[in-house]
Formats: sequence, C-alpha cells, structure tokens
Amino acid sequence: MTQTLKLASRVFHRVRCPPELGASLGSRGSDSAPRGLADIPGPSTPGFLAELFCKGGLSRLHELQVQGAARFGPVWLASFGTVRTVYVATPTLVEQLLRQEGPRPERCSFSPWAEHRRRRQRACGLLTAEGEEWQRLRSLLAPLLLRPQAAARYAGTLHDVVGDLVRRLRRQRGLGAGPPALVRDVAGEFYKFGLEGIAAVLLGSRLGCLEAEVPPDTETFIRAVRSVFVSTLLTMAMPSWLHRLVPGPWGRLCRDWDQMFAFAQQHVERREAEVAMRSQGKSEEDTGFGAHLTYFLFREELPAPSILGNVTELLLAGVDTVSNTLSWALYELSRHPEVQTALRSEITAALGPGSSAHPSATALSQVPLLKAVIREVLRLYPVVPGNSRVPDKDICVGDYIIPKNDIMGQ
Ligand code: HEM
Repeated sequence: MTQTLKLASRVFHRVRCPPELGASLGSRGSDSAPRGLADIPGPSTPGFLAELFCKGGLSRLHELQVQGAARFGPVWLASFGTVRTVYVATPTLVEQLLRQEGPRPERCSFSPWAEHRRRRQRACGLLTAEGEEWQRLRSLLAPLLLRPQAAARYAGTLHDVVGDLVRRLRRQRGLGAGPPALVRDVAGEFYKFGLEGIAAVLLGSRLGCLEAEVPPDTETFIRAVRSVFVSTLLTMAMPSWLHRLVPGPWGRLCRDWDQMFAFAQQHVERREAEVAMRSQGKSEEDTGFGAHLTYFLFREELPAPSILGNVTELLLAGVDTVSNTLSWALYELSRHPEVQTALRSEITAALGPGSSAHPSATALSQVPLLKAVIREVLRLYPVVPGNSRVPDKDICVGDYIIPKNDIMGQ
C-alpha cells in the first residue's frame, strides 16, 4: 500500500499538565538540567485553535499531529481550553512513557463525560471510570471482550450481522444516479453495520439498522453518537465560567448522552427481565438467550446501573471505530486491486472451499494478510487519533520532565 502519512503520525501520547508547573521545572538553554514544560516547543494557542476549528482540523486531528511533529520535533506542546497537551511522536519515547505507567493510569478521558455521569447520578463505564473503579471494570471486561477466546463467542452473532450487511449492500447497488453497481454511501452503510454489530454483541438485540426502514429510536441514537464528539470538544475548549454565558455546548452534550443512555436502558432492562425469567426456571429457548455481554455481566452480578453505564459507553465506542476503519480499508483495497485479490484468496482458503456455514473463529489465525491490511489501514487512518495519559508523578520524556498533574478532572 502507498504510505501517505509518516510513521511518527501514529505514535503519540497526550499528557495534561497544569500551566504553572511548567515554568517551575528545568532551565531553558541549560545542557545539564532536565528541561521542563516551558522549554517544549509548540504553536501559539490562538494558532492551534484556529487550525483545529476553522481549517477543518477537528476531522484531521491525526494530520495536525503529523504536521506538529514535522514543525516542532517529536515532543511538542499545545493548549486546548484549560488543557495543555504534550504530544509525543516516536515509538521509543512512547515506550519510555508507558514504562513509567502505574497499574491505574489516568487516561485523560473526556472530563465532561465524567461530569455528566456525576450530575445525572449515572454509573461510569470503562471509558469514564478512573482509579480503582476503572481497574475493577477493566479486569471484569477484558476476559469477556478483549481476549481472542472471548471474541470467538460472538462469531455466530457477528456472522449473521455480516450476512445482513451483504444483503443490504446488494439491495443498495445501482440505486440513484451513477454506475449500476455503485453503492452511493458506503460509509453510511458501514456506520449502520457498526451499530448493528456492536448492539448484537453487547445486548443480543437486533436493532434493524440494516433493514429498509431504520427504527426512529435507532436514528436518534445514531444522531447522538455523531453529535457528542463535536459537543465534547466545544465543551472542553471553553473555560468553565463561559459555560454559564454560553450554555449551548454543555446542554447539547448532556442531551446527547441522555439520549444514548435512554436507548441503552430500554435494551438493558429487557435483558434484565430475561435474566429474572430465567432464574424463575424458564428455559433458555423461551427467553431467547444468546451470547452477549449484558448477559455475561448480569451473570457476574455487576450492579444494573454499572451494566448500563458500560453498555452505553461501549455502544458509543464501538460504532465509529469499526465503521470508519472498514470504510478506509475498502478505499485502500479499491486502490490496490492486487492486494484485494490476494486477500480474497487468503480468506477463501481459510474458510474452506464452498463453505457457507458459520466460519469458525479459529479461521482468524489463518488470515495474516487480513490482519496486516487492518493494521496498515489503522496506521494510515487511525480512527482513534490519540492516546492520552495524565501523569500521576513527574515523568521523563526524552530530555524533558513532565510534572505530575495534581489538578485532575478540570
Ligand atoms: C478499529 C477499532 C478500534 C480502535 C482502533 C480502538 C482504539 C482504542 C484506543 C487507542 C484506546 C485507548 C487505549 C489506552 O488508553 O491505552 C481505546 C480504548 C477503548 N476502546 Fe477502543 N478501539 C477500537 C474499537 C473499539 C470497540 C469496537 C469498542 C467497544 C466494543 C471499543 C471500546 C473501547 C473502550 C471501552 C476503551 C477504554 C478502555 C480502557 O480505558 O480500559 N473500542 N480504543
């Protein structure tokens, strides 16, 4: 594949630091003393915000970071609202940073999201939890979601959703103007597929996203997922006193999350009722049980509010990630037909000749080219363009000392 972006673009880390500590560390221009925040180069705040909001940078965060590294070097600093961020852009520096990490890293998750949970008295999920709670959730969820054996449990469910996607794409071909085989909005189709797939894994529910008519509550959920990232960045860019004067972004963020919670709640409550029926002796067939995360979480006796918080956050996390990566993969494959042909042969061979049955999850170990294609697509178009950490102690990055941040959750 053609490499359009530099390697440095995909490895960076974000740490948030209180402005006043930067000036107190290190001494500019000294060869011997470690250098502090004040010595790290970077763009002016107005310049950075202009790039981010006015020149389409918000949707090009990854490119902005590539440009930042090219302009300022592998460690550079920029401010965004009350958050100062040190960008780290080489594998060795990222490794150095991660090796200093404790067992409960603060991941600088979007603080307005945690604030929403606090105000609405909702339980946090894995995205917003911190400290011990995060560690507990992570230990619980990792074996249910992250390990290959865990993924194998959902293979049948996902196979059915993929079948629906293929049928829908066939139906969409040639609709509207253009060549007869053209599907006009492939990215939109993958978006619906992402939601249908993740909902099937998390809730065992089919939402009908791949049907001709998408149900209205599902449409509302899709709109909220699209909107919440914009409202989050706007909220974070504003100092807290401005929220009283300009309440729009915070209000929109709360509305988005409320809608997502309401959507997830009806599905989780249905699952909860099924669990109750099951414990009263109904058979598995009667209650329509399947392999889905909510069932596993009830079985682990995670409290219902926590199940809801996790399912809602996982629904959000699972849609854009999957759909954007698929769209870019298709785009790159269409530009590299030889890779497309080789990939098709690899997959056909792994599934076995003429096999129409559910592919086994073990087939995944026989498709190294598929794995390589996905990795390369993520390298070129990283759907999550940053990994963030707030240091819980002073840490070394190259020649710099990044101070411990004792202003958490600002
Ligand atoms: C192409 C697919 C995906 C990519 C590239 C991706 C990437 C990432 C990255 C870079 C992080 C931050 C890790 C860190 O802080 O060290 C993350 C965290 C997370 N992702 Fe994904 N992700 C993908 C798909 C998904 C899906 C499908 C889900 C939901 C089912 C999901 C749920 C989460 C959650 C809950 C976290 C927070 C984990 C934690 O803090 O312990 N991601 N993801």
